[in-house]
Amino acid sequence: MQPTTTSRATQFAVSLEEVSQSYGEVTALDRVSWGFRKGSLTAIMGPSGSGKSTFLHCASGLDRPSAGTVRLGDLDMGGLRETELTRLRRERIGFVFQGYNLMPSMDVERNITLPLTLGGRQADRHWLDEVVHRVGMAGHLDRLPAR
Ligand SMILES: Nc1ncnc2c1ncn2[C@@H]1O[C@H](COP(=O)(O)OP(=O)(O)OP(=O)(O)O)[C@@H](O)[C@H]1O
Ligand SMILES: [Mg+2]
Repeated sequence: MQPTTTSRATQFAVSLEEVSQSYGEVTALDRVSWGFRKGSLTAIMGPSGSGKSTFLHCASGLDRPSAGTVRLGDLDMGGLRETELTRLRRERIGFVFQGYNLMPSMDVERNITLPLTLGGRQADRHWLDEVVHRVGMAGHLDRLPAR
């Protein structure tokens, strides 16, 4: 595992230091340290129940660990209030959930732009067209997820 001391934190997009997560008797994470380098791609593998989802939830600010430190860049997420954490997740973290979590009554375009509109911003039309084109979704923006 890579060291994630404070002085080196900035080379990581996200870093975890001695992170533990317990659910009653179950210790899902036991002092895990890891740094995700900027621009890198990481796969987390392990048997069912080994703590992958718990790890990802802690690393992304969806859950607060029982112990340890999670940083987004230099920012200690443990020091944030719930509203600050919400804003951080909305503006700086992207998720693709296994179960998608799309809004069934909203079309594709509104699902894509929802985090921006919740944040009071408008999507850049050019960039929106570019990203939907890249993932092969051009021409489907007015469809509902079920279609
Ligand atoms: N909310 C919770 N309450 C109680 N126990 C939990 C909770 N979430 C996870 N656990 C327990 O923590 C351990 C790790 O679970 P986790 O879901 O992180 O594993 P996983 O590697 O993602 O498994 P899978 O491959 O099945 O998705 C398991 O023993 C699980 O039962
Ligand atoms: Mg899982």
